[in-house]
Amino acid sequence: MKAAYVEAYGPPEVVKIRDVPMPAPAEGGIVVKSHATTVNSGDARVRALRDPGGMKLLMRLALGFNRPKQAVIGFDVAGEVAAVGAGVTDLKVGDRVLASNRFKFGCHAEYVQIDADGLAVKIPDNLSYVDAISLPFGGATSLVFFKEGGLKSGEKLLINGASGAVGVMAIQIAKLMGAEVTGVCSAANAGLVRELGADHVIDYAKTDFAVGSERYDVIMDTHGNAPYARVKHLLRPGGRFLMVIGNLWQMISGGFQSAVISPRDDKAAVSFENYAYLLNLASKGEIKPVIDQVLPFSDIVEAHRRVDSGHKVGSVVVTFDQG
Ligand SMILES: NC(=O)c1ccc[n+]([C@@H]2O[C@H](COP(=O)([O-])OP(=O)(O)OC[C@H]3O[C@@H](n4cnc5c(N)ncnc54)[C@H](OP(=O)(O)O)[C@@H]3O)[C@@H](O)[C@H]2O)c1
Repeated sequence: MKAAYVEAYGPPEVVKIRDVPMPAPAEGGIVVKSHATTVNSGDARVRALRDPGGMKLLMRLALGFNRPKQAVIGFDVAGEVAAVGAGVTDLKVGDRVLASNRFKFGCHAEYVQIDADGLAVKIPDNLSYVDAISLPFGGATSLVFFKEGGLKSGEKLLINGASGAVGVMAIQIAKLMGAEVTGVCSAANAGLVRELGADHVIDYAKTDFAVGSERYDVIMDTHGNAPYARVKHLLRPGGRFLMVIGNLWQMISGGFQSAVISPRDDKAAVSFENYAYLLNLASKGEIKPVIDQVLPFSDIVEAHRRVDSGHKVGSVVVTFDQG
């Protein structure tokens, strides 16, 4: 079977497709035959060892010094169960699932071993693998930040970076929660951001929202150029700042600010409940998958290039169904 290996930290070209032996399911785990996976901004960060500032050493310690210890990255897979390990009773061969090994990665491969402590959720019949795989990276991130940040109906929320994988899901989920949403993105994506439900759109090339007079209950920064120190004056009393991305100093100082909600451990976001909830919303048409491009697995290097542009719209999907 084929798998994409990150052979060293570096540009997209460090990713090489190799033939490797088929995995077997571990006790309590499964093997998924992949139909679709994504290259997301987290994968590109790992591949490039691109830290948000001050965290290179921590990243090397966590991921591997000169290259990722887990050379096959990739966070999620959508596909069919190809084999089940001893003790698995809730899934059978042929089931369509959305699955993740969390930060054990391993999903950029034709067959993916999901361990007992990973997760696999059945995909509703009316959702394609491509649609299903586009949901969790941004969707689960939004769910956990909105929960931790206590987003409430009627509150005013600003999303900086509203057209990326996190932004497009954040808009839709926040609207379902009854928030009034302002999306910040480029003019090219303003129409989409409105279509997804944003009540107001700000073109970052024309207007710097941080110097405006509008006030918000919650500000979510998914781009990193609107840190708490720069936008805290825009928060209403009791307002919260959702730091989806921040450098080491911002993370440390955010820990001392009750208004700042920082990145959480992966199990809070990447949970069975969150994945099942997102699939159910999409199946009922209450959230829409937003897909930038669908590329064949043989073009995974190109997928990394697109993610590195910093301007993808929603998710970049890689599929095994196009040969
Ligand atoms: N903490 C966590 O748990 C967690 C989880 C998931 C992701 N993340 C992080 O969140 C970040 C966003 O991820 P993503 O996948 O959504 O990224 P993405 O898909 O690459 O989206 C980037 C977004 O930034 C926008 N943007 C570009 N320049 C901008 C500017 N000057 N001002 C405002 N917005 C600008 C882009 O809009 P245009 O294309 O319209 O320019 C696009 O909407 C990444 O850094 C990722 O590592 C953190």
